[in-house]
Amino acid sequence: MDIKVVGIIGLGYVGLPLAIRCAEVGYKVIGFDIDPAKIDSLDKHQTYIAHLENNLIENLYNNGFSCTTDFSKISEVDAIIICVPTPLDKHREPDLSYILSTLDSVVPYIRKNQLISLESTTYPGTTDEEIVPLIQKAGFTIGEDYYVVFSPEREDPGNPNFTTATIPKVVGGYTKACLDLGVALYSKIVNQVVPVSSTKAAEMTKLLENIHRSVNIGLVNEMKIISDKMDIDIHEVINAAATKPFGFTPYYPGPGLGGHCIPIDPFYLTWKAKEYGLHTRFIELAGEVNRAMPEWVVNKILLGLNENGKAVKGSNILIVGLAYKKNIDDMRESPSVEVMEHLLRLGANIKYHDDFISHFPHMRNHYIPLDNTAITKESLQQFDCVVIMTDHDYLDYAMLLEHSKLLVDTRGKYTNVKNPKIIKA
Ligand SMILES: NC(=O)c1ccc[n+]([C@@H]2O[C@H](COP(=O)([O-])OP(=O)(O)OC[C@H]3O[C@@H](n4cnc5c(N)ncnc54)[C@H](O)[C@@H]3O)[C@@H](O)[C@H]2O)c1
Repeated sequence: MDIKVVGIIGLGYVGLPLAIRCAEVGYKVIGFDIDPAKIDSLDKHQTYIAHLENNLIENLYNNGFSCTTDFSKISEVDAIIICVPTPLDKHREPDLSYILSTLDSVVPYIRKNQLISLESTTYPGTTDEEIVPLIQKAGFTIGEDYYVVFSPEREDPGNPNFTTATIPKVVGGYTKACLDLGVALYSKIVNQVVPVSSTKAAEMTKLLENIHRSVNIGLVNEMKIISDKMDIDIHEVINAAATKPFGFTPYYPGPGLGGHCIPIDPFYLTWKAKEYGLHTRFIELAGEVNRAMPEWVVNKILLGLNENGKAVKGSNILIVGLAYKKNIDDMRESPSVEVMEHLLRLGANIKYHDDFISHFPHMRNHYIPLDNTAITKESLQQFDCVVIMTDHDYLDYAMLLEHSKLLVDTRGKYTNVKNPKIIKA
């Protein structure tokens, strides 16, 4: 079976760069999304993801791309790649509703000899338990006239060192024939495909990667709190430890976890493990430590203001960085939001600066009606405290230090700088 047309469902942080890459290597790509605003914006060749510039969207269209909210076009594609969100629900349990509603839209239009690849991060068993039965119920035999794989996405938005092509891609198939077709699809897209023996192994691989990060960040955040009490700069320690050429990998502490992946994905495994009577103790502990970090930062702000004879109530505070990590515009689960809400509850006057985010957007559970505040020597004078939450590369850190009255640094930007204005948090 020859794959020529690829349908990508969910044109977000994962789906859009994947569409760009698929079109670049010669697949005809049809994008699907339920958000008409995204389709509209793409059709006007306008990006909605800051690090993917308009010229990339223009090239995408030059390479034959089209996009739609009409799922009947699914019958025109040879491979369907699903990149929709997999959040947690309000009980912090897996919310598969986006995958399930995608399948509801897709299954009526599937035809023989198509491949479905699920890329959304999820617990082991999702592909076999949720996707396979629906395809079988529609009358197909998986591995004979329909093919199903799981291939986790490893996109790292804003990381200039890797592209979709240079990040190896893990694939697991429901059968050997499924795997072979999945490997054929991805071999054109990425330089290295890593086949594994099952969809479950592929699903677990992604979780291991993200749990590994969450646990290590939890560890280093705990080390930060201990170091702080001992008057040791954790960043200096990490930089020194990282000179060991083997057996140590540096992880960096911060104001708390953010993004769609690391704060959420580990709890997909926690939920599934319960089915086997197992507890995921490392995951829970790391979650506990990481979730406490925003409050720890708030406390540092209170102590800093106190040193300057100020109460937090009525103080003017500038939050620098809304995005959950540097050089991108993604503020899902960003600890900046939690810190801002906490300070607002305490009666502070809050403004924010982030050139990637011109207005505070309406988020699922949060909204603070603010616009981006420009940083100038004069504007910094208005603030009793400036808090660096995101270490965007474009920021002028020397200027921030020179003109701030009190500077709370949650990212280790002033590790070797001695200045009583700096509070390391
Ligand atoms: N963002 C990352 O860095 C990253 C990295 C690795 C893995 N992932 C995983 O990839 C998946 C997608 O994440 P994302 O960051 O791209 O999310 P996103 O929110 O940026 O994009 C998801 C897109 O899916 C669309 N969508 C939602 N329901 C739909 C439906 N029923 N049919 C069609 N489209 C629908 C939304 O409108 C949106 O455009 C998640 O499982 C995530 O865990 C994300």
